[in-house]
Amino acid sequence: MRLTICNDYQDMSQKAAAEFIELLKEKPDCTLGLATGSSPIGLYQNLIKAVQDGAVSFAKVKTYNLDEYVGLTADHDQSYAYFMRQNLFDHVDIPAGNTDIPSGSAPDTAAECRRYTAALAAIPGGQDIQLIGIGNNGHIGFNEPDVALSADTHEVTLSPSTIEANARFFASVAEVPKSAVTMGMRGILAAKKIVLVATGSGKAAILKQALYGPITTQVPASLLQLHPNVVIFADRDAAAEL
Ligand code: F6R
Repeated sequence: MRLTICNDYQDMSQKAAAEFIELLKEKPDCTLGLATGSSPIGLYQNLIKAVQDGAVSFAKVKTYNLDEYVGLTADHDQSYAYFMRQNLFDHVDIPAGNTDIPSGSAPDTAAECRRYTAALAAIPGGQDIQLIGIGNNGHIGFNEPDVALSADTHEVTLSPSTIEANARFFASVAEVPKSAVTMGMRGILAAKKIVLVATGSGKAAILKQALYGPITTQVPASLLQLHPNVVIFADRDAAAEL
């Protein structure tokens, strides 16, 4: 585990983006696992700039996202498909067919989960980098704290704390979807390298538990301790308890 404490959000975004830029230069046909939420937006802005400057290209890159809300179509402005177009895909040269996000509006969610699990399993050697954030409750993807975690892509009931945390993006808490489709723990841990970005004092306590506490399904991010190549970029506020 490699921990880099960054001055602020901007510094964290730049340093985390450098991991991706280095990979894109070395392996232009890499496979990336991507995340949504507030934490990676600055990182994506740095990647967009690197493409616009001609330093890297996404022309041969394939991407897979962690998760999607159930019940939102890809054109809903709070869907993660929409988020990815707004914050990255529409601004880089990635072919539309090279991005995969589990659908939250498939007629058969279980079948969609099976499709996504198979797509992830078919990545030779796993994602080159899987980007993740960490929920206030220790979730990664939408693998919520529970007595057991699932290995494969599955539909998960969002915990009250996640619904509350994500209500900031919706008109009211009632509009936050109650469930999501998420990559399971195997899908995440299969990556060759995992880059975790954490920002803000709200993440300080859970980041400490995840990195240095007991490995427990009640803190899904604690399972990262079992992965051989995790790189963490935390700003000073998020790293305050480390
Ligand atoms: C997003 C995801 C979530 C977020 C987490 C942190 O695709 O899977 O696990 O990474 O909820 O969200 P932010 O970055 O908004 O604090």
